[in-house]
Order: sequence, then structure tokens, then C-alpha cells
Amino acid sequence: MEIRTLDAALGAEIVDIDLGQPLRRTDIEAIETAWRERLVVVFRGQSLSDPQLIAFSSNFGELDPPGPNPYGEPFNKAHPELNVISNVVENGRPIGNLGDGEAVWHADMTYVEVPPKAAVLHALEVPPPEAGGNTYFANMFAAYAALPADLKKAVDGKAATHDASRNSAGMLRKGYNDVTDVRETVGARHPLVRTDPRTGRRALFLGRRPNAYVAGLAVAESEALLDALWAHATQPRFAMCHEWKAGDLLMWNNLSVLHRRDPFDPKTRRVMHRSQIKGEERIG
Ligand code: SIN
Repeated sequence: MEIRTLDAALGAEIVDIDLGQPLRRTDIEAIETAWRERLVVVFRGQSLSDPQLIAFSSNFGELDPPGPNPYGEPFNKAHPELNVISNVVENGRPIGNLGDGEAVWHADMTYVEVPPKAAVLHALEVPPPEAGGNTYFANMFAAYAALPADLKKAVDGKAATHDASRNSAGMLRKGYNDVTDVRETVGARHPLVRTDPRTGRRALFLGRRPNAYVAGLAVAESEALLDALWAHATQPRFAMCHEWKAGDLLMWNNLSVLHRRDPFDPKTRRVMHRSQIKGEERIG
């Protein structure tokens, strides 16, 4: 196995490994180190069944089941601990979440008190490259380090509510109401800056922009601060772009990156299976 650093603010590609086989302890540790340091690890040419995806993911901790989706029942009935990300509709019913539109910048499930530490996304079917559907990741350690002094001061000691009501494609999750006043947004409240418990490094912790609210501020002040932080954090200089091929598997550090996905041609098929690994920390 070889680890190649990508020419971007984050990301590493790991080659010469078959993730469908049981992994050696030394390989698991090397993957975990690359994931901690480069935040996104990319494997190409994998072909994992659901049980193999579960076995690979479980090397890094206990699996965290998907959050509520708009339809109120798991997409993957045989393996409800896995999520399906897809635009495909069969017998009049979507087989997966998020459709074919843009998935806006977000981190996964930060609307819970202890969000998952990692997500693993395995591409089974992807559109041709010209059809769209690229996924972008942004490094929140780099974004915090480069914050202008006034914004660094503004975020110090502040916390924000992370909206649970809608997914990153803007769909209302089953059982939630529309947010009409951000001061009443339902979801966990986390500090705007996370300190990595192992290294002491600080990262912006923004979660998702829609319906966010900075506790204690007037709504207009909260909106202005969040707009400034999101404009800063999502600059291309902090980001990498992944152009998918079938067989790709990406594992990202959910507490240290944001991600977003381009829309893609609705006439094409995109099918991905995904696991999440439970977090072990309250954000602080
Ligand atoms: C996601 O936000 O987890 C989905 C990313 C993608 O569809 O590429």
C-alpha cells in the first residue's frame, strides 16, 4: 500500500490495497493516520459488497446509522446501518437520498450532540464526467488558521445551532417542520470553533448554513457573521474536488471538513452506498 498526498489543501490517495480483504493492523493504522492528517482519503478501483463496506468501515469504529430521510424508512433494508445516495427511482420510489440536485456545503449530522467522526462513500454507478456530480471537500483547520483577525475574534466563545430539519439537498426530513425563525431552529448547538482533542489544533465547525443561528446575537448579526464565515470557509484555496469513477471509495474526517456535491444530469444514474463511523467527542 502506498499513500500519495494530493496537490490540494487536503486529501491523499491510497493505492495498492484491496479493501474487500481483511486488512492488516498496520494498514488500518496507516489509513487512519492519513485520514487524520489529510482529512480525506481516496481509494480507486474497489468493488465492495455491502457486508465488505461494513467490514472495512468497522475497522475505524462503531457504525452510526443514517439520520432521518424524507421518506421515513431506511433505503437499504437489508443493511439499515448503510445509507444510499442516489437519484434512481424504481417503481415510483427513490432508492436513495439527495436526488440529482446540488448538495450544499455541509458536514454530516452535526445537528446531533455527538456527530459522526467519519463517513465512507463507495461509488457503485456514476454519470459520465461531463454530466456533473463532482464532490468537493474543504479543510476547516486551514480555514480557521487563515481567518482574518476580526472574524477570529468574532467566533471566539460563540456557538451556533445546526439545523436538523432539512438534508443537504434542501429536502424536509420526515417528522420535522419548516423553520420560520432561526432562533427556534431544532438541532444541536456547537461551538463555532472545534479544538481537536489529540492535537489541540483549532478548526471552524460550521455544519450547515441554512437555518443556522449564532446563540445570543440578534438575527441580523447572526446572519452577517455566518455569511462572512461561510464565504471564507468555502474558498477554493481550502478545497479539493473529486471527480468520481465507479469503484471509488472516499473516507472523510467529518469533524474537520465541509463537503458539497455538484448537481448532475437527471437522465444519468448515480448510486453510492455509504457508512458513517460514530464520533467519540462532544465538540469543544
Ligand atoms: C453527501 O453529501 O454525503 C453526498 C455526496 C455525494 O453525493 O457525492
